[in-house]
Amino acid sequence: MFTKKTIRDLNLKGKRVLLRADYNVPVGKDGTITDDYRITQSVPTLEYLKKQGAIIIIISHLGRPKSPTDESCSLQPVAKRLSKLLDTPVAFAPDCIGDVVKQKVAAMKPGDIILLENLRYHIQEEDNDTAFASELASMADVFVQDGFGVVHRAHASTSAITKFIPSVAGLLLEHEVDTITNVMSKPNRPLMAVIGGAKIADKITVLNRFIDIADFLVVGGAMANTFLRAQGVDIGKSLSDPDDVPLAKDILERAAKEAKKRSFVFHLPTDGVVATKLDSKTTTRIVDWGTQTIADIEDYPKIPGREAGKVDHDELILDIGPMTGAFIAGGMQLCNTVIWNGALGVTETPAIHGPVGPFSHGTEILVDAMLGQFGHRPFSVVGGGDTVGYVESRKLTGSFDHVSTGGGAGLELMSGKKLPGVEALQSA
Ligand code: 3PG
Repeated sequence: MFTKKTIRDLNLKGKRVLLRADYNVPVGKDGTITDDYRITQSVPTLEYLKKQGAIIIIISHLGRPKSPTDESCSLQPVAKRLSKLLDTPVAFAPDCIGDVVKQKVAAMKPGDIILLENLRYHIQEEDNDTAFASELASMADVFVQDGFGVVHRAHASTSAITKFIPSVAGLLLEHEVDTITNVMSKPNRPLMAVIGGAKIADKITVLNRFIDIADFLVVGGAMANTFLRAQGVDIGKSLSDPDDVPLAKDILERAAKEAKKRSFVFHLPTDGVVATKLDSKTTTRIVDWGTQTIADIEDYPKIPGREAGKVDHDELILDIGPMTGAFIAGGMQLCNTVIWNGALGVTETPAIHGPVGPFSHGTEILVDAMLGQFGHRPFSVVGGGDTVGYVESRKLTGSFDHVSTGGGAGLELMSGKKLPGVEALQSA
């Protein structure tokens, strides 16, 4: 349940509203936004504020600029995209503080919208600097936090600013926190969690939390390689974190203990798609290191050779294999809720034929299963920047029950941590 005040609790007619959004979106070299999901998801709050007759001043960060002249982090392309999405002019200011901005803001009328330049062009933003926050706050009557993706950071525009003006949540923040906390605290069981991605260290707390609460936990992506290594499986030259092998062993131990206490399944890939290089055109094969179920169809009933069960020293695991995909999809037929964060293979490898790359098939099976293609459709929650980018590139964001705009913020919330940007808001 969301326990903070929201924009619905205030009369915002004619009020200057400083809205913190998370428009940290991928922008190409030519200024093209390649995934605008975070922008589209901020639209309901903006439309609500406009309808209320508020004067809307938007602040955000984009990327991690090295200097204030790092143009690749400018929010200007976002102002253009926002204007298109809202079908209304969105002004842009070349800085987020200073006299020029103040003059522009002073000339605004109810319903007008302006986006200010990247907050992170000022180092004071990430320092949670009080003077910087006070200067931002001086432009407005009310602060609205709607940047769910950034509320795990205690920065000037998420934390210090709330000391100066009444501070409430926007509709996106409310919806995200509500949905994620509900699904974690009282999921419609059985609950399956599918966690992929590169590093165990990034997901350790959420893995531990799912060992506590999930009925079925699946690990995929490069992170699974570190677990396989910990189990003594030969992973060739696959990406893994040797330093995290002890961490992986601890998690495996915790999972095994939990499985003894109650009905709980922890599943690692038992087969994978391997190749000697990461390339769309490279030859691939399937290696079945876990179950030895692959038969050589042509020479049936010959027993498959040893190579069918072993990753070669010069090979990389680049996706889960068909047995693992089938196990996940089959398990999902029994689950009523699925939470997914992190691709199961190298989904960023471009496709040659059709929309799906050579190492995305495992992730595609997962997506199909989540969307009910094999019969049963569980309640589906998707999170994580790259994961959402993939789903967006497949034009499927609208098909899931909830696709989160948060990466780290979503993981922290799922892990049960307090989010400084939410804590700082007024309680309802
Ligand atoms: C994100 O993309 O996770 C948020 O925008 C936060 O960005 P940061 O990791 O650079 O603080």
